[in-house]
Amino acid sequence: MTVFICPLCQTSFQQKDNTQICTNNHHFDIAKEGYLNLLPVNAKNSKNPGDNKEMMNARRRFLNSEGYLPLAQKLIELINNLFAEKKQAHILDLGCGEGYYTNQLSNNVPENFIISALDISKVAIRYAAKRNKKINFCVASAYDVPLPNNSLDCLLRIYAPSLDAELQRLIKTKGYLVTVTPAPRHLFQLREKIYDEVHEHPQENDSPAGFSKINQINLAYILSISEAQQLQDLINMTPFAWKFNQSAMEKLLAEKHWNIECDFNIEVYQKK
Ligand SMILES: C[S@@+](CC[C@H](N)C(=O)[O-])C[C@H]1O[C@@H](n2cnc3c(N)ncnc32)[C@H](O)[C@@H]1O
Ligand SMILES: [Zn+2]
Repeated sequence: MTVFICPLCQTSFQQKDNTQICTNNHHFDIAKEGYLNLLPVNAKNSKNPGDNKEMMNARRRFLNSEGYLPLAQKLIELINNLFAEKKQAHILDLGCGEGYYTNQLSNNVPENFIISALDISKVAIRYAAKRNKKINFCVASAYDVPLPNNSLDCLLRIYAPSLDAELQRLIKTKGYLVTVTPAPRHLFQLREKIYDEVHEHPQENDSPAGFSKINQINLAYILSISEAQQLQDLINMTPFAWKFNQSAMEKLLAEKHWNIECDFNIEVYQKK
């Protein structure tokens, strides 16, 4: 059994050997790592959609160095509190990348919770699926999620794109949407090296259509870095990596120790 539905006709799947077959006989092979590739070929804008390999490898190394562990811990605490009274919940990590947070969550919620995750990048999903066999992974677009209407108790979106109508369709009435975005001071010490004038990120975001904000948490801490590799990975996983010029980078690397502000905005919305 899989939680996912056919991306072509939205009917449910039956498994036969290593293939999922929908009611209308569309076939999707289960990869050896256990994930499904449900991204229709015509939905790909490029051969390997998603972040490029350098960004992905940098993010993988940085996250595995536990630089953002406080964020993972905060999300685990928050989600366990939201579902403290519930015996069962289906949670989706949308645009999960290499599944760092998905894996942390899966290992720290009640055993019978269902955790699913998707990303448009096959390379990222392959890595994620290797790490944790309990999670339902698929390659798919956040704009066209192969899950039934009203099937999610919670959708987690960490630095990933989404479409309001799709969030509304997927999440049950009274279900939760948890988003993570950069807060004003996030990575300030890196951004001030690039920009003459640093524009702070917004303090808060508007509620997506059909949702009310029920909680907002600001998570701020100083990340103390003493390995140049960790610093470079942090830079290379961000969209402003290419804005660093050679001399700014050399100046920065000449410092032997770096204190970088991490500032996250965690917002919790409930579907009306
Ligand atoms: C900044 S990364 C964040 C990944 C992960 N949530 C994390 O925090 O480690 C953004 C992710 O969104 C994915 N992505 C971009 N466009 C997407 C789309 N249309 N559908 C699904 N994922 C998408 C990228 O492949 C990438 O893994
Ligand atoms: Zn089908």
